[in-house]
Amino acid sequence: MSLLNPSAAGLLRDARRIVVFTGAGISAESGVPTFRDDLTGLWAQFDAQRLATPEAFHADPDLVWGWYEWRRARVLHTEPNPGHLAAAAIEARVPGTVVITQNVDDLHERAGSRAPVHLHGSLFAPRCVAEAAHPAPVPELAAGVGEGRRIPPPRCADCGWLVRPGVVWFGEALPEAALTAAVDAAVACDLLLTVGTSGVVYPAAEIPRLAARSGATVIQVNPEPTPLDRVCEVNLRGPAAEILPALVAAAWKEI
Ligand code: OAD
Repeated sequence: MSLLNPSAAGLLRDARRIVVFTGAGISAESGVPTFRDDLTGLWAQFDAQRLATPEAFHADPDLVWGWYEWRRARVLHTEPNPGHLAAAAIEARVPGTVVITQNVDDLHERAGSRAPVHLHGSLFAPRCVAEAAHPAPVPELAAGVGEGRRIPPPRCADCGWLVRPGVVWFGEALPEAALTAAVDAAVACDLLLTVGTSGVVYPAAEIPRLAARSGATVIQVNPEPTPLDRVCEVNLRGPAAEILPALVAAAWKEI
C-alpha cells in the first residue's frame, strides 16, 4: 500500500463517473489463463485459428464446442479474487460506475458487479449459430469434459441449427448493445481504470483511448508495460489482486 501512487487514490476518491475496464489479467490470479502471456497464455498453447473463428466452428463444431466447454468447466472451478471484489466495491461506492470487461468468464458477476458489459461475449450465453436472437439454455457440463475432448453442440430449440458459444470470435463484430454501452460510458466517464489488458485487440482497446480523448483520467493496473501506458496518467505496476484492493483502501481508507 505504501508503494501505491498517492495521486491515484485521490483521483479515484474524487471521481463521479468511473469505468473499470478489464482484461484477462484481472482473472489471472483466480487461475484463468490469459491469452498472450508467453508460456501460460491460451494463444501460446492453442491455435486460435482452429478454435476461435466462425470457420473453425463450421469445420469442426465438436472440437470448438468441446474446447469452450472445457474452458467453462475451468472457470466454474475458480473463484473471484480481490481484484474482482475491489471492482465491485468501487461500483458499490460510486453509483455511476460501469464495469466493462473483455473477459468471457463470470467472475465480475460472482464478485458482485451488477451488470458488467461483456464486450467479447460470455461462456455462459450460448446461442443459435444461425439466429443471434435465439439464446440457448446453458447445458449441463458433459461428464469428463476435458482439454481436447470433442463434444457435439446442442441444437437450437427454435430452428434446429447448432448452438454455438456466445463469445466473439476473430473476424466477428462485437455485440452491438455492449459496444454502444461501452462507448457511451467511456465518453461520459471522468476516470477509467484499465486493468489486466494488453490493449492490443481492437475495437475493445479503443475504449481507454476514447475515454482519454474525451477528457477522462486513465489509470492502468498491469505488472507489465503495455501500449496503453502513454494514454495513462498513472501506471500502477503489479498484480490486480494486490493493487486494486490497495487502491480502494487508500481512496476510502478502508478494507
Ligand atoms: P492478454 O492475454 O492479451 O493480456 C493480458 C494482460 O494481463 C497482459 O498485459 C498481462 O501483463 C496482464 N496481466 C497478467 N497477469 C496479471 C495480473 N495478475 N494482474 C494484472 N494484469 C495482469 O488479454 P486481454 O488483453 O484480455 O479476445 O486480451 C484481449 C482479447 O484478446 C481477449 O478478450 C480475447 C483475446 O484474443 C477474444 O477472444 C475475442
